[in-house]
Amino acid sequence: MSSSIKRIAVNTGGGDAPGLNAVIQSVVIAAANRDWDCFGIRDGFNGILFPERYASGGVMRLTRDKVRGISHLGGTILGTTNKGNPLHFPITLPDGSIREVDRSDEILTYFATHEIDALVAIGGDGSLTIAHALHKKGLRVVGVPKTIDNDLDKTFTTFGFDTAVGFATECLDRLHSTAESHQRVMVVEVMGRYAGWIALHTGIAGNAHAILIPEIRFDLARVEAKIRQREADGRQYSIVLVAEGAQPTDGHRELLAPAEVGHSERLGGIGERIAHDLALSTGKETRVVVLGHLLRGGSPTAFDRLSALRFGAAAVRALDEGQSGVMVSLGLNGVDHVALEEVAGHMKAVPLGCDTLQTGRDLGICFGD
Ligand code: F6P
Repeated sequence: MSSSIKRIAVNTGGGDAPGLNAVIQSVVIAAANRDWDCFGIRDGFNGILFPERYASGGVMRLTRDKVRGISHLGGTILGTTNKGNPLHFPITLPDGSIREVDRSDEILTYFATHEIDALVAIGGDGSLTIAHALHKKGLRVVGVPKTIDNDLDKTFTTFGFDTAVGFATECLDRLHSTAESHQRVMVVEVMGRYAGWIALHTGIAGNAHAILIPEIRFDLARVEAKIRQREADGRQYSIVLVAEGAQPTDGHRELLAPAEVGHSERLGGIGERIAHDLALSTGKETRVVVLGHLLRGGSPTAFDRLSALRFGAAAVRALDEGQSGVMVSLGLNGVDHVALEEVAGHMKAVPLGCDTLQTGRDLGICFGD
């Protein structure tokens, strides 16, 4: 099928994840091999919405030379932002109050004026929701799923997740020996927003003794009982892995900052809270390690790099086949496409019946329930 495409743009939105640069490289090379020109939009859509901020232009031409040797690098050469959704863009009124306006038409106008035929939007749920809205307004769009949290629906996994879990597991490996030497409880907090994928996979791979995830409300008395049982069995230390979005039975979630116009709430602090309470209830010395943004850094693993390269090339193939309004996804039979409307706004939580969770239970790991 002829796609009639000559020029495409690519952007990266939301929190960065290892593998973004590999997707960009793959998109640019696959496009160049079709004699398409490729342009990179800086910092989400800011390169279009705020061109004056960029001395060298808010939208840059991406040639093969520009993307040579970047597939193993963390971060994104285009920059990203998780603020300022163009559909709900916050502006400050003269009286100091903040109002949201829809600036998406400016993006469509930019594409029309510069004769850019399509967009490859690399991002998580927020960015893909924006991509879906732009598609409904008439822009040709293919989405690429990105997030360390692995919480995007309709894809087996997202790139960035494997790297995050690999690093966090190495951290857990290192914590065992110091925790054991000092006979301490180590509480490790990991990212993941409202899904427990990072905590679950890391905790099982890294031999945590308790794993607390948002999908299972926890009773800290169960964790205390686990620590005491280990002591009775002669093991004087414990590792408790907690997802930033985990909630006790009363449903209270620890926040570093509440949601504000243009930015969602920032989760965090549950590790400190639990460590404090466990120190009191068990009488043991307790320490907290918050892995936080370290999980987003570094070189993508080979798995993430390969997924990212496959996703980037698949996005270009999808456009070449005349598709729009889809996200490339990883299924059991390889890379496929799903409609953006099936993905946008649908979070993939850890299913309570999944075998990974069951594995944890079979291994005797405490989930706080
Ligand atoms: O979605 C990726 C993620 O790293 C989450 O795990 C975390 O809650 C959030 O982004 C942190 O965002 P920020 O970089 O704005 O602190």
